[in-house]
Amino acid sequence: MSSLKAATALAHPNIAFIKYWGNRDQALRLPSNSSISMNLAALETRTTVRFDGQLAADGLDLNGAPAAPAQVARVSAMLDLVRAMAGISEFAQVTSSNNFPSGSGIASSSSAFAALALAASAAAGLALDEPALSRLSRRGSGSASRSVPAGFVEWRAADTDEESYAVSVTGPEHWDLVDSIAVISEEHKAVGSTAGHPLADTSPLQAARLHGVEQRLAQARQAILQRDLPALAAVMELDNHLMHAVMMTSSPPLLYWQPASLAVIHAVAAWRAEGLQAGYTLDAGPNVHVLSAAADAGEVAVRLGKIAGVQRVLQAAPGGPARLLPA
Ligand code: PMV
Repeated sequence: MSSLKAATALAHPNIAFIKYWGNRDQALRLPSNSSISMNLAALETRTTVRFDGQLAADGLDLNGAPAAPAQVARVSAMLDLVRAMAGISEFAQVTSSNNFPSGSGIASSSSAFAALALAASAAAGLALDEPALSRLSRRGSGSASRSVPAGFVEWRAADTDEESYAVSVTGPEHWDLVDSIAVISEEHKAVGSTAGHPLADTSPLQAARLHGVEQRLAQARQAILQRDLPALAAVMELDNHLMHAVMMTSSPPLLYWQPASLAVIHAVAAWRAEGLQAGYTLDAGPNVHVLSAAADAGEVAVRLGKIAGVQRVLQAAPGGPARLLPA
C-alpha cells in the first residue's frame, strides 16, 4: 500500500529595504550580510505538496502548466532536504500558483520557497518551528527566509546554517505603509539572483557596501519601529544605490535599470521635494518599489501610472507570515 501525505501553504513575497547581495557560502545560501524586508500582503503564492509512493519522480506544475526541468530540479533539491529530515523516500507532486504576474519581476522566489518549505515539511509530517522553517526556506532562495515570519523582518547573516534565519522586527499592523510597484518590464531577467550572488565579490565596491551595512540595518530598524518614513527612505535608497553600484561594477556587470526605472527614481525625488513622502528601491530587475504612507498610496499609483514606460502598478500593504491552509 502506498502512503499519501499532502499539505498546502501560503506565503507572501517580500521587498528588502536593506538588501542581501552575495553569499559567504553559496551552497548553504549563507548571506554576506544581514537584510531587512517587508512582506507584501496582497501578493500570494499557494503551494500544495503531495508525497506519493506511486510516483516515479518529483513533478511540478506552476500556474497551471508543467514547469521547466531547471525549475523542477530546484524544487527537488528542497524536497530532498525535507525527505532527509523526515526520513522518507517518496517522490512528490508539487502544484504552485501566484496571484501576481510571474514574469513581473516581483521576487516570486521568496514566496515560492517559503510556501514550498512549509507545505513540504508539513506533508512529510514535520512540525518545524519558525527559525527552522526560515532556515529551510533559505536553502531554496535566500530571500525566502524572510517570507516566513510576519510583517517587517530581519534575516541575520551568520557562519553556520543553524544561526542564519529571519525573525519579525514588528508585525504587519505596526505601520500602514504601502508598496506601490511600478512594473516596467514583464520579461524574465537575463541574470537571475542565483547566478548574480557569486558575482558580488568581483566588484571592488562590495567590501565598501558590507563595511557600512550594520549601521544601515540599525537605522532601518529604528525607522521602522518609529514609523519614520523620511528616515527609512534615506537609508533604503542609500542601500539600494550601493547594491546596484556593486551589480554594475561586477564582472560581468549586471545592469538591471531601464530608462523608465530612472524616470521613476527622478519622479519620486521630485514628489518628495513637493512634500509627498515616499522612498524607492529596486531588486535584481527594472521594476521600482515605491514605499509611502497608505493615505498617499492612491496618489502615488496615479502618478506612477502616468510615467512613460510604466506598464502597470501593483500595490501591497505589510503582510503576515507563511501559513498552512486547510486541506
Ligand atoms: O533570494 P534571492 O537569491 O532571489 O536574492 C534576492 C536578492 C535581492 O532581491 C536583489 C535583494 C534582497 O535582499 O531581496
